[in-house]
Amino acid sequence: MSFSDQSRKTIIEPFRIKTVEPIAQTTRQQREGFLTDACYNPFRLRGGQVTIDLLTDSGTGAMSAAQWAAVMLGDETYAGSESFYDLERVVQGITGMKFIIPTHQGRSSEHILLEAMNTAGHVVLANSHFDTTKANVEYLKGTPIDLVIAEAHQPNNVHPFKGNMDLDKLESHLKELGDHVALIIMTITNNTVGGQPVSLSNLQAVSALAKRFNKPLILDAARFAENAWLIKQREDGQQHRSVRAIVRDMFDLADGFTMSSKKDGLVNIGGLLCVNDEALADRCKSLMILTEGFPTYGGLAGRDLAALAVGLEEVLDDAYLEYRIASVAYLHKALTSIGFPLINPSGGHAVYVDAKALYPHIPPTQYPGVVLTNELYLAGGIRGVEIGTLMFGHPHPETGVDCPAAMELVRLTIPRRTYTQSHMDYVAEVMADVWGNRHQAKGLQITWQGPILRAFTAKLAPVGSMSSV
Ligand code: F0G
Repeated sequence: MSFSDQSRKTIIEPFRIKTVEPIAQTTRQQREGFLTDACYNPFRLRGGQVTIDLLTDSGTGAMSAAQWAAVMLGDETYAGSESFYDLERVVQGITGMKFIIPTHQGRSSEHILLEAMNTAGHVVLANSHFDTTKANVEYLKGTPIDLVIAEAHQPNNVHPFKGNMDLDKLESHLKELGDHVALIIMTITNNTVGGQPVSLSNLQAVSALAKRFNKPLILDAARFAENAWLIKQREDGQQHRSVRAIVRDMFDLADGFTMSSKKDGLVNIGGLLCVNDEALADRCKSLMILTEGFPTYGGLAGRDLAALAVGLEEVLDDAYLEYRIASVAYLHKALTSIGFPLINPSGGHAVYVDAKALYPHIPPTQYPGVVLTNELYLAGGIRGVEIGTLMFGHPHPETGVDCPAAMELVRLTIPRRTYTQSHMDYVAEVMADVWGNRHQAKGLQITWQGPILRAFTAKLAPVGSMSSV
């Protein structure tokens, strides 16, 4: 048996703790003050005011002893850092990609690649673009189109691969748009629709279409290992294969990938941009000098490159992935048994609560998702993130009234190797109180918003309160 003993029901955290960091323990009265000062927007809270931070799994994980040891060995040479060559060897070994370019995080990889591929005036087809990818396509005067399968928008549909591309739609778009299509992106796992995986057979079919229509296929590989693990668990014929072999199959189908290493790279900062085409790699390397620096450090310190090389190997460990996906499923199961409406099935990095179904009395224009993040913070100092009308809605240009988002979700995102099972039990206990108070929850209104990405900075107040006028 390569990982946990199958005769035991308990899947343990496959590590013990060597360094600890205290977390804030606050009273409800203190939290009421903090939230009022934060204008009812949890993005405006400080780290020291949060007990369990489930805002994101990006850059919030814990590094291993081996990664910290690698940090000390990082080579800080400006040009030709040895740490770069170590990382290059590891990434080539895992993915088979030829040209390896480090960047400071995922979105800079996206920007450089899209610019190097000259996507201006062209269409980019994806299962789902992540927000930053979509924003970069649009910033560079292209048009992003999402073609995820219809099941992805049905919270109770337990399709095992809700991250998949709709193949019929992809084919018809490729036929109709012809030369206007610049590239195809597959986001693995598909964060936007709930951390849901893409199957290997779907990737194979997308790759075949990309070849037939002569379009490059790029993976957004932020959570590549979680996707591979879910393929191993859920896809016929994959159970007896190693995660490493599945990962290699995924990358072999693509012409390149962008990666935020802050997720499955198991580091706190970093990104990768890797392609097989030498001319394209050269264009990327020229462009990156503007924003990232020399191509052998890519906006990172040598020690960051060294920690990433170790993290990319560690993330492929079966025992780690089994624990990781089980810890997300554990919280998913606990919240289901309380009665919470969730996105099903449990996915790779987070549990997503359907706040619209939880609070049918609060209209989308009063931000039920933000209401839930507020309730959760007040009840137990837990921070989640709204993915709904505050994040994606926008005021109608004439009436000023918000056009609602498609869904009102709250993402409880689990950082890697950071919290234990008792932390998750605590989250479930607090959520049970939130559930009990659901009929009393009241809507919010915006009192101030910025012109772009308003969710990060907006100020809100309870509907009808003095401060909202
Ligand atoms: N692609 C995906 C699928 C992501 O989830 C993210 C970041 C990025 C690209 C951008 O990477 O942050 O390193 O620039 N997702 C974070 C999140 C922010 O909370 O889901 P980055």
